[in-house]
Amino acid sequence: MSSFIRNAWYIVAWADEVTSAPLARRICNEPVVVFRDTAGKAAALSDRCCHRGTPLSLGEVVAAGIQCGYHGQVFDAAGRCVHIPGQERIPEKARVPSYPIVEKDALLWIWVGEAEKADPSLIIDLPQHNDPQRWPHRHNVYHIGGSYLLMIDNLMDLTHLGYIHRKTIGGNPSAHVGAKMETVRTDRGLKFTRWMLDSVPPPTYVNVYGFTGRVDRWQEFEFIAPGSVKQWTGALDAGTGAYEGKRDGGFQFHVFHGLSPETEKSCHYFWSTATGFRQNEPEVGERFFIESGATFLEDKVFVEQQQARLDEFGEDWLVDVQSDAARVHMRRVIERMRNPGAATLAAE
Ligand code: FES
Ligand SMILES: [Fe+2]
Repeated sequence: MSSFIRNAWYIVAWADEVTSAPLARRICNEPVVVFRDTAGKAAALSDRCCHRGTPLSLGEVVAAGIQCGYHGQVFDAAGRCVHIPGQERIPEKARVPSYPIVEKDALLWIWVGEAEKADPSLIIDLPQHNDPQRWPHRHNVYHIGGSYLLMIDNLMDLTHLGYIHRKTIGGNPSAHVGAKMETVRTDRGLKFTRWMLDSVPPPTYVNVYGFTGRVDRWQEFEFIAPGSVKQWTGALDAGTGAYEGKRDGGFQFHVFHGLSPETEKSCHYFWSTATGFRQNEPEVGERFFIESGATFLEDKVFVEQQQARLDEFGEDWLVDVQSDAARVHMRRVIERMRNPGAATLAAE
């Protein structure tokens, strides 16, 4: 049985990935084609023509919808066949499944579960994607050959920064292991803040901001089930009041991590960086974006290799330690969403 949480919004694409050509992407193991109608409105259909089963993504967008590239049938945004070349009558059954899709904050969100439960108010807000003055942002998507849950695991245990990312955003391992951590549970996940007070800034920070001494550095991470992690990070010169709440004006950025399952063992990693410093210097934001992208590729390498080992040996033999606390809670939230009744019983 599939273990996907199907009744949830997942990112299917960055809004600017879907232009005049159809885009093929698999979400929760469903092949999906995303396209825009001539008015620019996004639509998502199952990526299989109901005539002979070829992927609709091989076709093209026409005035009435998407035209299959094989024999030219046309399907509208609701998946109804509206044109069959050389034939007047369109069979009632000639349709392909369609999915609710919502464009919001530069992203396209899809719902592959029961359509009547697709409530757009459940989609998270990412205002930094619409605020180019204060938060100029850049974005990308990586394909990861590992489960989306392993990627979220990675974001929930930041002690990896000092090892995987030693040369980029990580810096000194002991600063991470000794970080002060405050965690709160939320309705849809959890939020934790890590403080590295009076620490040596990592190379990336020095490169883009020019710190000369030690810093008070924070990392605030919020997991919103099933696949979103909002990150707000920054640093100020040590002892200038960041911990007490004065976090404005220094070095800070938002990173968004959106993980959408592709298959059980692969996912799409949508990420963005929005810089809240030197906003008028595009090269600074660009450099930060490039360095972040390099960092996330370091995660990709580890998670893909990890997935291969887990495929080979299962997971029963793995041992949790203290730094797994947030990760374990995240997995519980996922389990509860996957199986609401069972999780309640188990907790009692
Ligand atoms: S397979 Fe699509 S029109 Fe024939
Ligand atoms: Fe990482």
